Amino acid sequence: MSSFAGRFSGRNAIITGGASGLGLAVARRIRAEGGQVTLWDLNADALAAADVDATHTVAVDVADAAQVAVATLSSVAALGHVDVLICSAGITGATAPVQDFPLDSWYRTIAINLHGVFHCCRAVVPHMLTRGYGRIVNIASVAGKEGNPNASAYSASKAGVIGFTKSLGKELATKGVIANSLTPATFDSPILDQLPPSQVEYMRSRIPMGRLGMVEESAAMVCFMASQECSFTTAATFDTSGGRTTF
Ligand SMILES: NC(=O)c1ccc[n+]([C@@H]2O[C@H](COP(=O)([O-])OP(=O)(O)OC[C@H]3O[C@@H](n4cnc5c(N)ncnc54)[C@H](O)[C@@H]3O)[C@@H](O)[C@H]2O)c1
Repeated sequence: MSSFAGRFSGRNAIITGGASGLGLAVARRIRAEGGQVTLWDLNADALAAADVDATHTVAVDVADAAQVAVATLSSVAALGHVDVLICSAGITGATAPVQDFPLDSWYRTIAINLHGVFHCCRAVVPHMLTRGYGRIVNIASVAGKEGNPNASAYSASKAGVIGFTKSLGKELATKGVIANSLTPATFDSPILDQLPPSQVEYMRSRIPMGRLGMVEESAAMVCFMASQECSFTTAATFDTSGGRTTF
């Protein structure tokens, strides 16, 4: 970690889903490496309890474009400017075959996991373009590459994030704003509490390394993607999957 000291000096980040799991781990690492962070999360209690020195926190539902627009203005005001956007907010949705999939869970999963990423990028990109610098990291999943059975909404939403980020990265390729997505395999975090143990075991069994990932392993990759050092890779999909997805 010490060799990265100061990597985010002078850099300001907005992190959605920042009160828990991967978002929180990324926030801690950016702070440890000299950056400022603002956390956005639906869970106000978790935001208040988040063990990181954040400049600003916002209780916001990323599925609501109007709330995201307000949060963006207040975070830009609090930070002064924004260099980094990490879109980590997400839910698993129901565990069910397509023919039984609850409609409300389908719509909510797409609204948070896919529309939410669109809302946040749409609101924050203009602020990055003004300064000619930005790093956007959208958290997808191996489910978006391979599909997981009984997780159709989640898999579809994450495939959407991958495609969306490819499009966004190409749009911004000459503007100094870089956008990439990450496709983790299952890592240990509170989101797994939303799943039956049998589903977690299925996903673990698909990982050649034979174990779940650790949140710090994906945070390390995200922080490279969010740094100035990531300069000739955009519209791409990075992998932290213990060998599960090699494409
Ligand atoms: N944990 C895994 O195995 C895994 C694997 C691949 C991808 N991912 C993805 O990584 C990201 C982070 O997941 P995590 O494991 O850290 O989960 P987590 O549950 O620990 O954190 C997700 C955070 O998102 C917040 N959130 C949920 N809905 C929201 C909304 N509508 N608006 C704002 N915030 C909202 C939650 O309150 C929570 O704090 C997610 O996008 C998830 O799909 C996780």
